[in-house]
Formats: sequence, structure tokens, C-alpha cells
Amino acid sequence: MNLVFLGPPGAGKGTIASQAKNHYDIPHISTGDLFRNHIKGDTDLGKQVKAILASGDLVPDSITIAMVEQRLKEADAKKGFILDGFPRTIAQADALKEMTSLDAVVNFVLDREEIIKRLSGRRVCKSTGKTYHVVFNPPKVAGIDDETGEALIQRDDDKQDAIENRLNVYEKQTEPLIAYYRSTGLLFDIDASASPEEVMAEMVKVLKK
Ligand code: AP5
Repeated sequence: MNLVFLGPPGAGKGTIASQAKNHYDIPHISTGDLFRNHIKGDTDLGKQVKAILASGDLVPDSITIAMVEQRLKEADAKKGFILDGFPRTIAQADALKEMTSLDAVVNFVLDREEIIKRLSGRRVCKSTGKTYHVVFNPPKVAGIDDETGEALIQRDDDKQDAIENRLNVYEKQTEPLIAYYRSTGLLFDIDASASPEEVMAEMVKVLKK
């Protein structure tokens, strides 16, 4: 199964992908995670994109497309994949069409007010990437990762100014992909406002059809 997860920042794409990768036994490929791993490893690419991620702007298409192309060539992606956060521009979608075919594009729909609540309350474990929410999905002990015992952090791009910028960038550059994929018949809208379990169940039902 070759899937793309589309939707605004904070809609829950990563949360659902972490369940769906086990359900479908395919890798979860998040371009945001790939960039954050480069930043953590202080690679040349990480140095190049660090300030871009913190601001909420998009990394240039040429860099992003090359990174995804390389990732899709890895052995685990031969059986399928969940692309989370890619494509984000029409140029990226056109490039993806040249790389592989898709079975479905899942569009996670959530209103702006809920998006802001989810992003501003998100906390992550820096070493494992595990995601929590201070209200909707709190850790057992406030501020501490359940598994590693490390202090949770807030992503730089989950701070107020960056959230606003990410939402504007999404509307201008990524939202046009909804019409792009709807015209191909591959797009399925999913109401992302329910609990993660309900969103996952709804997606599995829709994809089965
Ligand atoms: P990326 O990491 O992809 O960020 P994003 O799309 O903004 O997505 P998020 O990770 O913020 O949200 P999500 O939808 O995965 O939500 P989550 O499940 O965590 O990209 C980061 C940056 O990298 C970009 O800004 C850009 O700079 C760069 N980049 C990445 N891809 C790129 C590309 N293709 N081109 C160019 N640049 C690129 O959930 C959010 C919160 O809500 C969590 O706290 C979670 O616990 C909670 N939550 C989730 N689901 C629910 C629910 N159902 N009910 C209640 N709470 C929930």
C-alpha cells in the first residue's frame, strides 16, 4: 500500500501514521522527522535546514525531493510506505508521480482553532521522537517521557509565531494539493477531530473500500 498523508500541521498525521505503520506493515516516512534527524546529527543538510524548520517555512523543493527519492529506494519501502508531510507543493507532487504510483491520499481535516490547541500543547521526547499532548495525551508524569525518563521538549516550530507562519504556508503552498489529488480520484477526506482511535478506525474502513 502506497499512501500519502496530507493535512495541516497538527492534524494528527504523525499520530495516526505511528499506528498505521504497524497495521499495514509499511514504513512511516515523515519528511519532518528526516529533517529533524539531520539537525540532531548536525549533518551538512541539518545545518542547512535548521533555521528553516524553526521558522515554519518550507525547505526548498530540490533538497526535499532528493531526500525523499533516496529514502524511497531503501529496501523497506519496496513493500509500500506512508509518506507523512510529503508532498507539500505541486512541484513535489509532480516529482513524486515520476518516482512511484500511489494507492490513496488521506486528507486529514481539522479546523484552525483545534490545530492551534494541538500544536501549542504538543511535547516530544527529543531522543525517541515520541509525541504527547499536555491535555489530550499527557505522559504519566508531567513533562517526562514514559519510556526514557527524559524531560520532554516543545518543538521550536510549535511556538506561537512559527505556528501562525506554518498555517499560512500550509494554506498558500500545500492546500492546492487537495484539488490536485481530488482530480485524480485518489483523495479521501477524514475528519481528524475525533480521538486517534476513532480516526484510525475510520481511515482503515475508508481504505478497505
Ligand atoms: P512536519 O514535522 O511534517 O510538521 P507538520 O506537517 O507541521 O506536522 P506536525 O508534525 O506538526 O503535525 P501532525 O499532523 O503530524 O500532528 P501530530 O500527530 O504530531 O514538518 C516540520 C517542518 O519540516 C516543516 O515546517 C518544514 O520546514 C519541513 N518540511 C517537512 N516536510 C517538508 C516538505 N515536504 N517540503 C518542505 N519542507 C518540509 O499531532 C499534533 C498534536 O496533537 C500532538 O500533541 C498529538 O498528541 C495531538 N493529537 C494528535 N491526534 C489527536 C487527536 N485525534 N485528538 C487529540 N489530540 C491529538
